Amino acid sequence: MENTIERIYADAQAALAEAADADGVNDISIQYLGRKGYITQFLRSISSLPAEERPQAGKRANEIKGLLETEIKVTLERLARTTRKPADRIDVSLPGRAPEKGSLHPITQITNRICSIFAQMGFDVVEGPEVETDYYNFEALNIPKNHPARDMQDTFYVSDSVVLRTHTSPTQPRVMEKRQPPVRIIAPGKVYRCDSDLTHTPMFHQVEGLLVDHKVSFADLKGTLTAFVHQMFDDQTTLRFRPSFFPFTEPSAEVDIRCVICRGKGCRVCSQTGWLEVLGSGMVHPAVFENVGYDTSRYTGFAFGMGVERIAMLKYGIDDIRRYFDNDYRFLCQF
Ligand code: FA5
Ligand code: MG
Repeated sequence: MENTIERIYADAQAALAEAADADGVNDISIQYLGRKGYITQFLRSISSLPAEERPQAGKRANEIKGLLETEIKVTLERLARTTRKPADRIDVSLPGRAPEKGSLHPITQITNRICSIFAQMGFDVVEGPEVETDYYNFEALNIPKNHPARDMQDTFYVSDSVVLRTHTSPTQPRVMEKRQPPVRIIAPGKVYRCDSDLTHTPMFHQVEGLLVDHKVSFADLKGTLTAFVHQMFDDQTTLRFRPSFFPFTEPSAEVDIRCVICRGKGCRVCSQTGWLEVLGSGMVHPAVFENVGYDTSRYTGFAFGMGVERIAMLKYGIDDIRRYFDNDYRFLCQF
């Protein structure tokens, strides 16, 4: 019989050594010392033992009961010191969390690239206001009030004489009023038009260019823009100059780039033409020079205005301009 109580004690000690938390210890306590616990049952069964064994068995069982109670108390204290709540625990085997690094918006990156290419050619970077007067946005550029050419750009009017600039071209008269030739500037910035589809958004970015000096010719314009396109993309990129009309340039041309999305086969981005218009350009109209007081017999110049989103679409092969403004983190992360 002694054997039995010693085995119960040994089992209880082994179980205590394994217990991971207070709940486990309490279960052991109930299992051995509870009303139906092994030790309690053993004590009850003593009366059925032969009379001569009873005193020794009772003494030892009570001893073990006391020892076990103490060991349970000690184990609970030890666990309270060493186990913490899960929230405080640090699992050093988990992979680390890398800090999220921000990056420049793809449109900002392309704008910076455009500016640096022209800066290498000696152009200064200037900026003009986004809320612009009717005078600089239109009249100084040879677009009089009520002239049908105003229909070319759907305008957001702030008041009768103030607009959200529809293009970066108002920086041309603003700069020429302040500087005498030679002038060689580019002007990046936001512009606004009431316009929205696959290749148009109501707010978009342009980079304006203006060069005025003695004997500037259309060949200089073509050479400069071709050099730019070859640096921006690569020197295999095909571009074409297509005759066009702007009231502030004469002659005028728009430049198209062979669509890189369909490689010229025709797709929804290039409206099945194989070409995407990226900029307007031309020789500065003498009326614009007269408005800023330049001597048209001494100076000629060229100007251009390019759509940054269009260039970014071609550069990255993005087929919907609106992606740039959805603010979808997964899209923006790729640049
Ligand atoms: C102009 O804005 C003229 N100011 C360009 C210019 C400057 C001509 C200097 C001559 C001398 P246009 O409206 O075509 O032109 O726009 C120029 C470029 O901006 C287009 O080639 C296109 O790339 C881009 N663009 C025009 N409208 C949008 C739009 N709604 N969304 C995105 N890009 C546009
Ligand atoms: Mg156009």
